[in-house]
Amino acid sequence: MNNKTLAILKPDCIKKNLIGKVTAQIQDAGFKVLGMKMIRLTPDAAKGFYEVHNGKVFFDNLIEYMTSGPCVPIALERENAVEEFRKLIGATDPAKAEEGTIRKLYADSIQENIVHGSDSNENAAKEISHFFSRKELLEINGL
Ligand code: CMP
Repeated sequence: MNNKTLAILKPDCIKKNLIGKVTAQIQDAGFKVLGMKMIRLTPDAAKGFYEVHNGKVFFDNLIEYMTSGPCVPIALERENAVEEFRKLIGATDPAKAEEGTIRKLYADSIQENIVHGSDSNENAAKEISHFFSRKELLEINGL
């Protein structure tokens, strides 16, 4: 699978009323929205999603931030989705992100960086299944 990725519009994106602008930029870049929902992560769900970062200095703050308000996970489809999406959002640290990228445009800090994108095809599949069942995605898309 190299045509799907998971985005999460993070709590700062929702607080800044940027759901529409960021989603439009994603769709304008050729991504098809396969599934989208607004959720509030529990501390356990946030810890599970970010398990690979458990033990890092920023982990506790990351969990606090990701549970501070609603998030919008979006399952996306496009050719070469993981790589193209990471180009679109820019570097994790907005200060290092390229001009025109979503994080350069809207993010305030390395933590409050507006949007998450999967970092590999393997993780994309895992992360999509964190928020959307296969059955649900098939039903939503009329398959
Ligand atoms: P994301 O791409 O979702 O992956 C891990 C998240 O941890 C990252 O975006 C940021 O929101 C947050 N984070 C906070 N500090 C750091 C850091 N120093 N390096 C990487 N990620 C960080």
